Amino acid sequence: MGEEMINPSRKGNHSFLTSFFLIFLFSSLQFQLSTSVKVEDFKKCTDAAFCNRLLGTRDEGYYIDPASVQFSGPSVTARLLNKAKGTDVTLTMKAYKGFVRLLVNEDASKKRFEVPGVLMHDLGSREAIWSKKAQTAQSLLLQLEDAEMQLQYSPFQIGISIKGKPVMSFNGRQMFNFEHLRQKQEGDPEGWWEETFKGHVDSKPRGPEAISFDLEFPDTQHVYGLPEHATSLSLNPTVDLADNATSEPYRLYNLDVFEYAPESPFGLYGSIPFLWAQKLGVAVGAFWLNAAEMYVDVGKTEEGTFTNWVAESGILDLFLLLGPTPAKVSEQYAQITGATALPQYFALGYHQCRWNYRDEADVRQVDAGFDAYDIPYDVIWLDIEHTDGKRYFTWDKSLFPDPVKLQEDVASHGRKVVTIIDPHIKRDPGYYIYQEAEQNHYFVRDKDGKDFDGWCWPGSSSYLDMLNPEVRAWWAQQFALSKYKGSTPNLYVWNDMNEPSVFTGPEITMQKDNLHWREVEHRNLHNLYGALFHQGTAEGLIERGKAVYGSDADRPFVLSRAFFAGTQRVGPIWTGDNCADWKHLRVSLPMIMSVGIAGLPFNGADVGGFFGNPDAELQTRWNQVATFYPFFRGHAHLDAKRREPWLFGEDATRRIRDAIRARYVLLPYIYTLFRHANTTGLPVMRPLWYEFPEVEATHGVDDEFMLGPALLVSPVLEEGAESRAVFLPGKGPWYSARTGEPVKPDAGGALTVPVTMDSVPSYLRGGHIMPLRERARRSTAAARKDPYTLLVALDSEGQASGDLYLDDGSSFAYKRGLFAHRLFSFKDGMLSNQELPGNPSPPRYSTDLVIERIIIVGLGHPAKSFSVKEVGTGKVLQTGAGPVVQEAGVPELALVIRKPELPVTGDWSIQLSVTA
Ligand SMILES: *[C@@H]1O[C@H](CO)[C@@H](O)[C@H](O)[C@H]1NC(C)=O
Ligand SMILES: *[C@@H]1O[C@H](CO)[C@@H](O)[C@H](O)[C@H]1NC(C)=O
Repeated sequence: MGEEMINPSRKGNHSFLTSFFLIFLFSSLQFQLSTSVKVEDFKKCTDAAFCNRLLGTRDEGYYIDPASVQFSGPSVTARLLNKAKGTDVTLTMKAYKGFVRLLVNEDASKKRFEVPGVLMHDLGSREAIWSKKAQTAQSLLLQLEDAEMQLQYSPFQIGISIKGKPVMSFNGRQMFNFEHLRQKQEGDPEGWWEETFKGHVDSKPRGPEAISFDLEFPDTQHVYGLPEHATSLSLNPTVDLADNATSEPYRLYNLDVFEYAPESPFGLYGSIPFLWAQKLGVAVGAFWLNAAEMYVDVGKTEEGTFTNWVAESGILDLFLLLGPTPAKVSEQYAQITGATALPQYFALGYHQCRWNYRDEADVRQVDAGFDAYDIPYDVIWLDIEHTDGKRYFTWDKSLFPDPVKLQEDVASHGRKVVTIIDPHIKRDPGYYIYQEAEQNHYFVRDKDGKDFDGWCWPGSSSYLDMLNPEVRAWWAQQFALSKYKGSTPNLYVWNDMNEPSVFTGPEITMQKDNLHWREVEHRNLHNLYGALFHQGTAEGLIERGKAVYGSDADRPFVLSRAFFAGTQRVGPIWTGDNCADWKHLRVSLPMIMSVGIAGLPFNGADVGGFFGNPDAELQTRWNQVATFYPFFRGHAHLDAKRREPWLFGEDATRRIRDAIRARYVLLPYIYTLFRHANTTGLPVMRPLWYEFPEVEATHGVDDEFMLGPALLVSPVLEEGAESRAVFLPGKGPWYSARTGEPVKPDAGGALTVPVTMDSVPSYLRGGHIMPLRERARRSTAAARKDPYTLLVALDSEGQASGDLYLDDGSSFAYKRGLFAHRLFSFKDGMLSNQELPGNPSPPRYSTDLVIERIIIVGLGHPAKSFSVKEVGTGKVLQTGAGPVVQEAGVPELALVIRKPELPVTGDWSIQLSVTA
């Protein structure tokens, strides 16, 4: 019984020897911090009283009162006690199809904060019923589908196994602690009722209220997720159990960490407390719905991986996702927190941003530059300097005298404009937004109840209280065309600085004892704040869309920097203020994938790096990688040199044009991947292990990725590279995406390929069909009527399948069934097109667009001659004599069926006969 510190070194009084280990581990764990970020501005675990108290702290004194265990429907409840601490709380274990929810809370009179708005409203419909397998005086054994859960009473512990194999245990290391709310007393330990960081006093009126626990994954060497950190995808250990030394734990606290260091467990702009564990044959997940500051330690032993979580306040509301495949984990998470909102088609094109495009002439010039250099793009962005003194919703009249005309001109080329709107409101009584918000008491208050006054871009600012639904509704109204002067339906929005960033606050954010709606302290919802602001903004665009277009409206596009679980239902995020160096290019991949598997696939990194100046090589390579980012935007800092795609010399311009054009070629495939993200929560850019969980060697890979199921990209991430080591998992076959040639790696899947500045090593996965659009256009709007190409890559049986999702690309009409989702399959030389089984056929959305080209790779031999007949009518569509003519962009070893002119939304089959 009693407390025992297993990580004494983290408590700040470590011996010389542990300090030595600490330094050693710091370097061995590769968490060197670069000098650009001001590390000392941000807290470490030892600077946060609750982390100091609970991380790594054991307490064997928690137990279940056996007499209190009760069943009711899907729930099992019990009293969880700790005599020494006087804790008496309720444990609830709820069963759902595919996941389990553990809740620990005090009685309602204590009013602990419960995160609102994140869970899906229909969660209740997924409830399942436990079946009781055994109950003794010591434990209870329950069953749910394939899973068994054992609740051990004393010491308190929960074990979960799937098909008889243990996959997770909760409190196996007795690191569960629940600080129940209490009265202040003489002699209470330091840090309970007040603490100070860098001169900022946190008054902590509710005293200690932190919660911690451990979660262990047996036989598991890789855990992922918990974004946002600039680290490897497979999380490095932060604690070494053998010698008790530690590095910093992963921190989840939304902060404006500019020039963040790659390879650091620092908390960045967004937080999703969702962890994945992957071992051979089983993927599981754990999601803690808690928006307070959080730290997570990861430790690895020969027996598996152990994690130790602590949050400053709130309740324990922990979802354990039972997988057992990666796709199932994604689907379960989407059932809990929602799937990705379907983006507008244009949002998947290329975005050109800069802090700042100076004035209207500058915008027009950049817009014209894309046409002059024949580079497609869809959106031009305006940063803070477009406003009148950083008063959002206003325009600097001398720089942007006629913003409506400007947007209309950009729109006449099929393009959009994005403006920035941040949550800090200039405290200027003459500014209408400030005036209304102040009069209505819509601002966050300081601990004394006055409107909080913090410093941000406009100077002295107040921050909207987005927890209050009335404030969100009022905010949404500000986007009406009649309110937002100078806006048009072609204007979309960007929310920055919404962690929130406060230049004068502790750790460049807001005081934790600030007050929100109904006297909730900021500490409880810090990580949710930015997501609520994002949500209010997106609601504004939805309402504007309804006013302009009627009930099918216009899907919103709002990019956010801060995020939380559930942000996927609102819009995309980007990975914040990165730097123009190779390390940041490299780390963008694990960052994007980590956010993607945490249910938020629509994200990307600033191309070129926000700070600094990329040279032509880095800028070229970055664009070549970003072709495949789910969100593709070039951006640069105010002090950075201009970097429009044509400013790096002729060769670089050609290569960047190729990279951006390749993006547009892939858009039908990418849009289809987003349809899957919208229906089942699948990520778009995927780790190799997501597609090949049965290949153990993929589990640690994060310098290659899959774009959907069909394309593997092994991008060049090193300066001056002359070759690239490529890993092609599984049996294949794989084909070079450039030549269509089969690629033969060694038995382990490895091969080394030579590279030039033109190379983007990427591979077609046999068995898949990708829909493409190959005609070069200036924007997605200009390609709207273009025909499609099917790229068919055969597997070893000569088969392949793939799909294409189509709708109007902009409205919500698809939610009324106005879409088509085509399934293409190729077998025994027959290619057919039908509506996805289960959907109404014919589809309710149809077009007269056609397939203009079918490219088949993997026939294994050049075709001497071939013929294509329509099945049913017998009509001969085409005959050809080999060898196949080579064309630019067509793999050399492919058979190309030209102009079959088959309707993309019509049902048909064609039979191909080939003479070798
Ligand atoms: C690590 O901590 C454990 C538990 O406190 C202790 O038994 C062990 O001796 C420690 N190991 C070292 C190397 O200090
Ligand atoms: C798909 O996105 C739309 C918004 O575009 C949303 O309303 C819908 O709920 C999403 N689908 C799912 C299954 O979450």
